[in-house]
Amino acid sequence: MFPREVISVGSLVLRPPADDDVEAIASTCDDPVTARFIPLLPTPYTPQDARDWVRRSREVWEGGGAEFSITENGRYIGSAGVSAPTPSGSVEIGYLVAPWARGKGVAGTAARGVAEWLLDRGVERVELQAEVENLPGLRVAYRAGFREEGRRRDAAALRDGRRVDLVMFARLARDPGEPVEPYLPPFEGGELTDGVVRLTPLGVRDAADFHRMMAEPSVAEYGMGPVNTLEDDERRCRCTGYFWVSGQRIELAVRDAATGEFAGHLQLVQIVPMFGQAMVGYSLVPGFRGRGFMTRAVRLLADWAFAATGLHRLVAGTDTANTASQAVLRRAGFVRESVRRQVLPKRDGSRADEIEWLLLRP
Ligand SMILES: CC(C)(COP(=O)(O)OP(=O)(O)OC[C@H]1O[C@@H](n2cnc3c(N)ncnc32)[C@H](O)[C@@H]1OP(=O)(O)O)[C@@H](O)C(=O)NCCC(=O)NCCS
Repeated sequence: MFPREVISVGSLVLRPPADDDVEAIASTCDDPVTARFIPLLPTPYTPQDARDWVRRSREVWEGGGAEFSITENGRYIGSAGVSAPTPSGSVEIGYLVAPWARGKGVAGTAARGVAEWLLDRGVERVELQAEVENLPGLRVAYRAGFREEGRRRDAAALRDGRRVDLVMFARLARDPGEPVEPYLPPFEGGELTDGVVRLTPLGVRDAADFHRMMAEPSVAEYGMGPVNTLEDDERRCRCTGYFWVSGQRIELAVRDAATGEFAGHLQLVQIVPMFGQAMVGYSLVPGFRGRGFMTRAVRLLADWAFAATGLHRLVAGTDTANTASQAVLRRAGFVRESVRRQVLPKRDGSRADEIEWLLLRP
């Protein structure tokens, strides 16, 4: 059993929940964001639920786990919980922050404080899981020095029965525990624009447009593998925030800045931080072709990548037959670097040569 201690970390004091917290716990747990990402909580969440919870939290301590109220200046601003250790010595932590205290680093500080308190008490492995769509929840894990260990597909169920993926993180005593800075920071203001095109993170609202475009024959001709179902594409669009936050890749919707209409897709993939290299890939809806949209989009993304990330080389590959795509890259400043022979598997079983293009950091 863990000692019923108080953890002081930065300006926060974490102590066992008390009756005085009831009102603040009830408003925190009745919040829609809390309800969305902690589907096991009752909804609506009443003061009676909070009173029951404070009483049950004593049983959690007696059962080998731990429950804390996160407080600042004596006031409740969140909760953090620890499961009882498994026979192999792992525990899992969870946390939530009151809506009025979010965005100020509370969860990151508290998660770090609890993890280090557990490691100091001999726990071998502290685990944490966050849903793929819970971007603040994911950032908290990196900020608290946890390492990502993979995505557990369909590992949890929401209230409406929809299955969702969870990202697994852990912190071990031998890990350095430094905050992990994002290799791919978010766009300042959430998007890039030159007044003609807008680049916004590809999200689930874009899934139907994206799916329609990918199935279009002139796009499918240069795609690889089978064409996805709409469900596959929706699932992909739900993960794009996680792919970005975890530094794996960026997926963008290219929009007509005047109307907001979905015009295409642009991605930054195959990111190799050690070489400072990434690959761009794109497709445009037929009705938006011939207006320089993709050239503008690639220029915007490339300028951002060289200004905001450690990337030094942007590469792109085009089928030797795809002259329209080659023109986009040339206009965006890329130069031909080499030809990779028979690298592209085609749907008819043949293989095509690919021209490799390169844009170096200016
Ligand atoms: C998740 C939650 C605990 C975060 O609490 P918080 O105190 O606001 O978190 P922090 O301020 O420590 O950190 C939030 C991080 O998310 C980032 N973030 C916020 N919104 C984001 C978004 N849309 N995209 C990417 N990152 C985002 C912030 O920039 C910050 O990262 P940084 O430290 O690198 O700047 C809080 O939103 C919450 O209680 N949500 C409901 C319950 C829940 O989701 N619990 C966690 C389950 S895993």
